[in-house]
Amino acid sequence: MHKLLVKGGQVIDPWAGKIFTADVLIVEGKIAAVGRGLEPGECAVLNVNGKLVAPGLIDMHVHFREPGFEAKETIATGSQAAVRGGFTAVACMPNTDPVADNRSVISYIKARAKEVGLVKVYPVGALTRGSRGEELTEMADLKEAGAVALSDDGRPVASAAVMRRAMQYARMVGLPVISHCEEPALSAGGVMHEGYMSTVLGLPGIPAAAEEIMVARDIILSEYTGCHLHIAHVSTAGSVRLLRDAKARGIPVTAEVTPHHFTLTDRAVADYDTSTKVNPPLRTEEDVAALKEALADGTIDVIATDHAPHTLEEKDVEYPLAPFGLVGLETALGLVWTELVIPGVLSPVEAIRKLTVNPARILGLEEGVLRVGADADITIIDPELTEVVDPDTFASKGRNTPFAGRRLKGLPVATIARGRLVYNRNLAVIA
Ligand code: DOR
Ligand code: ZN
Repeated sequence: MHKLLVKGGQVIDPWAGKIFTADVLIVEGKIAAVGRGLEPGECAVLNVNGKLVAPGLIDMHVHFREPGFEAKETIATGSQAAVRGGFTAVACMPNTDPVADNRSVISYIKARAKEVGLVKVYPVGALTRGSRGEELTEMADLKEAGAVALSDDGRPVASAAVMRRAMQYARMVGLPVISHCEEPALSAGGVMHEGYMSTVLGLPGIPAAAEEIMVARDIILSEYTGCHLHIAHVSTAGSVRLLRDAKARGIPVTAEVTPHHFTLTDRAVADYDTSTKVNPPLRTEEDVAALKEALADGTIDVIATDHAPHTLEEKDVEYPLAPFGLVGLETALGLVWTELVIPGVLSPVEAIRKLTVNPARILGLEEGVLRVGADADITIIDPELTEVVDPDTFASKGRNTPFAGRRLKGLPVATIARGRLVYNRNLAVIA
């Protein structure tokens, strides 16, 4: 019988909102017991003294690029990046080639993830065929094949009429709609946030209004249709105000923010580093402050990376020509700890909640909690460990990070997925 005792750590229970000293016993991939001083007899022991023991982290917004763009990332390399970042489950966006707009692509992703066997990969199905924003996909089919949400992420649904129908059908099949909010007529040609910095740098801008108009539209449509709307990668203070108001009025809307949007501003673009080119763009200091406030007061439910790997060749071009996107899986937890937990924006429990139970609830997953009988998906965090980000150590194929050289404190040191120790940075295992 395969047994592992995770011994002497501080267990985080994001449901109950508590941290307590306890051991966790894993038997045959499941959590068998959580308690003090467990003595299970013959058993491998992972000593986690002084560490935090959290439910496996869930990233509800990644791009694994398979099928079709395997030079950027594959389900295998993406899964490896995930476990290195402390994640045991991800939801992957459908902008692959072919687009995940039909049953067979969804089934392929699930089968491939199973073969890789590291993290749970939950596919997001496309809202519209080819994500072209014209005809709806067969949503019931997608759901049956395993899609946990619907989205045309990477591209906005330009037509309000299409979005309205999409929400009506999504509600009928019981899937949330994840909206990439961008008014394309306003963002067209833009490569960074429109403001003082874009003027100084001479780069075409994407105004905050391009996002906010669509956030407003989709909130109105969510209220009208009753469909669960989840706003992807919120980046502006105006979007936060709209969300806060919508939630206060009881509209079924949730939202996520990325580590890069709560950490960096458009000033990071100043040296034309293309790893700062991301959509939505890095905004201003006021926006960052509003995003942190929204995390603290619950207006923003989830932290998700929008992990978007691209090849060196694609990014090694002039700023306007580079593709949008940056990698996030292997820096996410360190940024959450350094930028949010240590400064007191979020407590450790609140931070873990936004990385576990909240995304699980939105996607309807039975994940995100250390419960007896559940799959043993566990992330061990060393809140004292410090490291300078070095993209050469990434498991991801993508090296496109604006955080290279940044010192982070509070890092994942081991990841257990379905009872298997799939990542171990420095902890002793006594067999
Ligand atoms: O920066 C981005 N990259 N934003 C998106 O919405 C899509 C993503 C990608 O697929 O590269
Ligand atoms: Zn995305």
